[in-house]
Order: sequence, then structure tokens, then C-alpha cells
Amino acid sequence: MKISRLVNLTGLLLVNAYSLQNTQFQIDIDDITGAVTSLRDAQGNSSIDWISSHSNAPWQPLGSRWGLGFADLGAAYLHRFYWTEPDLKTGQDGSYKAIYNAGPLDITVRRTLDSNSSTFTERYTFRNNGDEALDLATRSKAALAIYTPFNDHYTNTSDSLNHRSFAHVWANGGSNAWVKLEQMGGHGRNLGLVLTEGSLVGYSIESRDIITLSNTRGVFQLHPALPVLQPGESSSVEWALFWHSDWDDFFKQSQQLSKQFVRFEISQHTLVLGEKAEIRLTGGVSSTSLINGSPVSCDSPDECTYNYTAKTLGRQALQVTTQLMDSTTANSTAYVNVVPPVDDIISSRVNFIIQKQQVNDGTDNPNTGAYAVYDNQAQSIAFWDKGTDRTTGRERLGMGITIARFLLLHPNNTEVRSSFEKYYEFVTLKLQSENGDVYDRPVGSGTSRKRLYNWPWVLQFHIAAARLPFEITSAGKTPVEWFMLSLESFYREGGKDLYAIGLPILESLRFFKQRNNTARYDRARELFVRHGEVILGRGLDYPPFEVNFEQSIVAPAAIIMLELNRVTGNETWLEAGELQLTTLLRFQGRQPDHLVHRVGIRHWDGYWFGKDRHWGDTFPHHWSTLDAVALHHYGQIIGDDQHLDHVQEILRNNLALFSPDGTAGCAWIYPLTVNGRETHYRDPYANDQDWILNHILYIDDDNRQSSF
Ligand SMILES: *[C@@H]1O[C@H](CO)[C@@H](O)[C@H](O)[C@H]1NC(C)=O
Ligand SMILES: *[C@@H]1O[C@H](CO)[C@@H](O)[C@H](O)[C@H]1NC(C)=O
Ligand SMILES: *[C@@H]1O[C@H](CO)[C@@H](O)[C@H](O)[C@H]1NC(C)=O
Ligand SMILES: *[C@@H]1O[C@H](CO)[C@@H](O)[C@H](O)[C@H]1NC(C)=O
Ligand SMILES: *[C@@H]1O[C@H](CO)[C@@H](O)[C@H](O)[C@H]1NC(C)=O
Ligand SMILES: *[C@@H]1O[C@H](CO)[C@@H](O)[C@H](O)[C@H]1NC(C)=O
Ligand SMILES: *[C@@H]1O[C@H](CO)[C@@H](O)[C@H](O)[C@H]1NC(C)=O
Ligand SMILES: *[C@@H]1O[C@H](CO)[C@@H](O)[C@H](O)[C@H]1NC(C)=O
Repeated sequence: MKISRLVNLTGLLLVNAYSLQNTQFQIDIDDITGAVTSLRDAQGNSSIDWISSHSNAPWQPLGSRWGLGFADLGAAYLHRFYWTEPDLKTGQDGSYKAIYNAGPLDITVRRTLDSNSSTFTERYTFRNNGDEALDLATRSKAALAIYTPFNDHYTNTSDSLNHRSFAHVWANGGSNAWVKLEQMGGHGRNLGLVLTEGSLVGYSIESRDIITLSNTRGVFQLHPALPVLQPGESSSVEWALFWHSDWDDFFKQSQQLSKQFVRFEISQHTLVLGEKAEIRLTGGVSSTSLINGSPVSCDSPDECTYNYTAKTLGRQALQVTTQLMDSTTANSTAYVNVVPPVDDIISSRVNFIIQKQQVNDGTDNPNTGAYAVYDNQAQSIAFWDKGTDRTTGRERLGMGITIARFLLLHPNNTEVRSSFEKYYEFVTLKLQSENGDVYDRPVGSGTSRKRLYNWPWVLQFHIAAARLPFEITSAGKTPVEWFMLSLESFYREGGKDLYAIGLPILESLRFFKQRNNTARYDRARELFVRHGEVILGRGLDYPPFEVNFEQSIVAPAAIIMLELNRVTGNETWLEAGELQLTTLLRFQGRQPDHLVHRVGIRHWDGYWFGKDRHWGDTFPHHWSTLDAVALHHYGQIIGDDQHLDHVQEILRNNLALFSPDGTAGCAWIYPLTVNGRETHYRDPYANDQDWILNHILYIDDDNRQSSF
């Protein structure tokens, strides 16, 4: 233990700056605020700081350092009483205490290093020091917050892979709450947090804006659930932080450290109506535990199962209630989703798109024939929204490709076919030039620019159109001719440096091979291999694109490597693909909630694509299904079934973005609040979510193919 600038006072130490240190942890506490400013591993890689503060995240506001917080204590305090300066700070042999006052609330923070259990414990006690009952919960779920700034930022690739960690947060389950941090680069042991007393109602995100853009996860707050506090009463939350290796070790240690931790193992978090799921509960459960009031069946004192049958559509809470030894009750909630058969979701969505989202305005509207962004609140195409990510180009191509794949299965559906034929003309005449270039909005509707991202989608669109059992032409050219023109122009424009999402390597080469089109096969393969070699050569040295480093840079790298392996059989691509896949999977968490489980971390597209323009976590988000495509290819290559459940989890959990009536939303904004605005809902814009359905149809189609 190291103490600086101390004053000795009858055995206690009144301190200014403080370090808590033992063989496991190295923790710095700020002398003025009492906030934790640094937390490092004393044994592992001490170059990694697991929390954010000025030294590694200078964009973070000082008031949101670790352990500070706020309470909504009413109008007299403008609903935001921040505790930032303790009245008393004491330290003694591996422990630290600070007492803050916030109006009628006293907050005592105790921090302890326990060498026996190798943990660092933080305990926050809230005492009503006023003369009236204090009921924070009636104001809002987010009325009480403790800042826990995890070091989850995308500064640049090397800094992210060497010094930052993903925060997999589970705070929506009541007394079962945890955070698993994971080094982005996988360089050694990881920090975990498990709740050991009290209960949480969720987490929020702050400090997201158009300056730092998509490159920081923001500042996290955890929200304790407090009972009504009568004058003089107090209530605490406590958590333990500990080092662990992988997910199993994390769950095992959480179970050892916390009597209220429950591990949920649910065979699928999204079920089709009528399906059954086996739910395995380990940890803080017993033979008297109830799940939504029904008994569980236990093999041993802390291992129980429950068979769940999906009877009602929609998001379902499964609450496990357990009497703990000390006669308190612990409630732990998990969430599953129940959906109609996937084919029904796809057909109602396709019908909705062709009926409500296609522009039919006569030939002088440059958008005519396009599939457009739809506002579920106005129940109209969002024709007033002129933002770049709301044009009829760009990601909206996902609707067109989905419809092409639907037509491949239902070629006799004349209504869908005639809508698609209009759309085909729109893409070729308005989003493309005669030489195959691709624009991000239709010619004639403002300044159209080229955007390399859009090319692979147009390529995928043409190859899907080429596979249809009826002929389609535009400007005298067939889809195959359009494909080749677009392919040549993509690589002419510099496509080989793009970590291209949705590049149809496997699908187009298989198509040319099946049709004995050797010249086109050879040319396309040559271009794809040259592109792949750029990504192969860079390995984990990812270049920045629209975000400095992100899931959708790593995912296309994995997919491109694995598709090249499937096409060529060359092992070099497989090895490279495995490296990318390992990196990609670290973005995924295992929270017991269908919205988040195995859904890769992304946190900016509520702003770019949503109506309400929220920054902050999007769980789920359609590009997380790229992980399913990568895992699908990997499973095909190594010939195992083990990846099937994982692929299904990702695809199905994303179905939360669709409703049975064919309406949809582009992003589910998961935190309770983002920058103080209430969230935890699906954005009202149907924008680019149909990529999920495209990926479902693509994987099903690939499973039906024989060659490659
Ligand atoms: C650690 O273990 C030792 C020996 O078992 C015991 O005497 C001591 O009280 C323990 N310390 C804590 C903080 O639990
Ligand atoms: C990456 O980010 C870190 C931290 O902000 C910075 O120190 C480093 O210079 C950056 N490296 C590059 C290559 O930009
Ligand atoms: C610690 O992390 C840094 C940055 O990633 C790395 O260069 C170094 O090799 C790591 N050291 C150990 C012992 O893992
Ligand atoms: C749950 O279902 C499985 C498979 O049908 C069965 O083997 C098991 O006994 C059931 N468990 C309970 C607790 O009913
Ligand atoms: C747990 O849930 C039960 C049933 O919903 C409720 O009566 C009880 O108050 C809850 N206990 C806690 C500690 O939240
Ligand atoms: C479409 O219609 C044709 C001609 O009536 C028929 O031969 C074919 O089987 C139908 N295809 C499908 C997929 O229903
Ligand atoms: C391609 O060539 C093979 C072998 O010569 C032949 O069996 C097949 O029918 C051809 N396919 C097409 C679409 O021409
Ligand atoms: C496999 O692909 C790599 C990258 O294109 C290439 O360098 C290597 O020669 C190929 N190996 C074989 C056996 O074709």
C-alpha cells in the first residue's frame, strides 16, 4: 500500500491521494473527488488501464469519473444532485472510505482489497439523512446513478487492440448483475465485476456527441434499485471486481463470489411460437426457486432446469425468485423473445415494403421505383428527411436484395415481381452510371456522390437478380453485364482497400462456375483474390473507415478470408479467417437477454439511421448478423454442426427489429437513457434493418447449394 501526502490521526489516515495495492490490483484514487482514476492488473499486463480517466480518455468529463454519481432529489435540486467531493476520506491498510453528502442523501463509498479472495470490493451505502421518506424509484429508473467509465473506446486500431477493452454489461436483471470486460486484443487476463448485494435496474450512457462521433462507447452509469428509504434508513449495493480468463472462468468465479449471481444457459433466446427452450440455472438458485411463479427442477443444490414453452408473441421476462440464506429474496430476470415462423416474418415484411415503402410518384421524381425509409409514427415514407443515411441509395439496397432473394423462392408472386422490376430500373438508371459507377442517392435528387461501401451491395443485388428464373434487363443490359461493369468500376475506384461489407465473392463465383462462364469466373476471381491479399497482408492492422475500429471492419475481413477459402480451398485464407473470427467474437457478450446475447457491440447507428438520432448501444443491430455469416462459412469449411446454434442465436435475436405485421425499426437503443433522454426502445424508422432478412435468406440458400 502506498499513501501520499498523509496526515496521521489516531490510527486512521486522513489522506489526499491514495493507492490501493496488493499482489493483484494497483488502484489510484483521486485526492479531491475520491473517484478511482486508474485500475491495473498487478500481475498481468500493467500497460492496460481498465477504467477511463483523464490519462487515457481526456475527452471524458471530470464529473463522471469512476465512483461519482448523481441522484434525482427533486425540483429543488433541478433533479441532478451530483456527488463529487467527499466530506470525509479515510484510508487504512488496503481499504478506503469516502462520505459524500447530496442533500437528504448521504453516500458512503467503501473500497477494500481482499487478498484471500483476490478481489477488489466496492460498497455504496445510501442513507436517508432527511426527515421525509425518500422514494427515488418513482422519479425514473435512472434517478440514481453510479459512474463506471469502462475503457471501451476506438481511438485507433493499435491503441484499441493493445489498451482498451469491450464492456459486456448485464445490469437489467435485478439482483443478478455483472460486467465482463474483455481486452480487445486478447492479450491476457480480464477484469470482471459481479454484484454481491442489492440490485440494479439497468445502465445508461452519457457523453456521446457529434465531436467524438462513433469512436467512444461513452461514459457508463449503473443504476441501483433502492427501496423507499424512511428517515434514518439506508440501503447498499456492493460489487466485487476480479481477474478471470474466459467466459466460463468469469461465470465460475462470479458464482463463487456472489450468492445472488445466477448463470442462465438458454438453448435459444428467440423462439418461434410453440417451440420449447431448456433453461439451465446455476449459482444463486435452490429447489425452492420459482420462475415466473412455477417451480424449477434441481439436480443439485445450485443447479436447476426449467423447460419453457413459447406461448405468447413478443419480449418475455423470466423472473427467477430465490430465498437466500439470510432470508432476503433475490429476483433475477432474463428475457426471451417469441416470434412467428421466420418465413412469415419475411413475407409480411416483403409485402409491407412493396406496398408502403416503394415510391410511386411518376417519372419526374428521381426516387420513383425506390424503396424508401418509413416512419412508423407518421405511417408514411419519411420523404421530408434529406439526411445522407436516409436517401433511397446506400443501405436501403438491403431491401432490394432481400426482395430478390424472396423472389428466388417465390418467382410466381407477380406483385412482388412487378415491384422488383421497377426497383431494378431505379438502381440501374438512378443509382448507377452507364459505366457501372454507384451513387449514394439518385441522380437528380441533390448532389450524388460515389461511396465505395455501396458497390458490393449493388454487386450482390445484380448477382441475386441474375439468378432469378425470369429475364430482366435495363438499359439493354442483363444483370450479369451490370455485375461485370460494376465490379470493374469498383476496383478501378480503389475497392481493393475497402473492408467491404457484403462483397459477393462466393455467390458470384459459384454462379459463373455453374454456368460454365469461364472468362467472367477467372476475371472476378482474380480481382477478389487481389483484394483478399490486401486484407491478408494487413492482418490485425485494420485501417480506419467511417469508425476508427469496429465490428463491421473485422467482420467483413473474416468473411472475405473465409469465402476465399471456400472458393479456392487454399488454407492460407482459412488461417487468416480464423485470426479475424477470434477477434470478431470478442465483440459479443452473453447476457441473458435476446436483445444482447451474442450480438456484437455497436453503438452509433441510432444516430445515423434512426429517427430519434440517439447515440449509444444498439442491441440488436443488423450488421451484427455479419458475425452469423462469418460463423456459417467457418462451420461449412471445418464441417461441424457446433456453430449452427450460434449462427441461429445471432440471426434470431436480431428479429426483435421486426413486428409480425411487417413493420420494422432500424435500431434498438438498449441503455435506459442516452445523454439523459429515455431510451430502451426500438427507433421508429424502418431504415436498413432488412439486411438481417437478407442474411437469413443468404445462409439458407447457401445451405441448399452443392458446389464450393
Ligand atoms: C484471510 O485468510 C486468513 C487465513 O485463513 C484469515 O485469518 C483472514 O481473516 C482472512 N482475511 C480476510 C480479509 O478474510
Ligand atoms: C493511437 O491512439 C493513441 C491514444 O490516443 C495515441 O497515443 C497514438 O499516437 C495513436 N496512434 C496512431 C498511429 O495514431
Ligand atoms: C502488454 O501489452 C502490450 C500492449 O499490447 C504488449 O505490447 C505487451 O507485449 C504486453 N505484455 C505482456 C506481458 O503481455
Ligand atoms: C425438459 O425437457 C427435456 C427434453 O424434452 C427433458 O429431458 C427434461 O426432463 C425436461 N426437464 C424438466 C425439468 O421437465
Ligand atoms: C421479487 O419479486 C417478487 C414477485 O414479483 C416481489 O414480490 C418481491 O418484492 C421482489 N423482491 C425484491 C427484493 O425485489
Ligand atoms: C411457377 O409457375 C410455373 C408455371 O405455372 C410452374 O411451372 C412453377 O412450378 C411455379 N414455381 C413455383 C416456385 O411455384
Ligand atoms: C457446364 O458444363 C458441364 C460440363 O461440361 C455440363 O454438364 C453443364 O451442363 C454445363 N452447364 C451449363 C449451365 O451450361
Ligand atoms: C494461397 O493463397 C496465397 C494468397 O493468395 C498465395 O500466396 C499462395 O501461393 C496460395 N497457395 C497455393 C497453394 O495456391
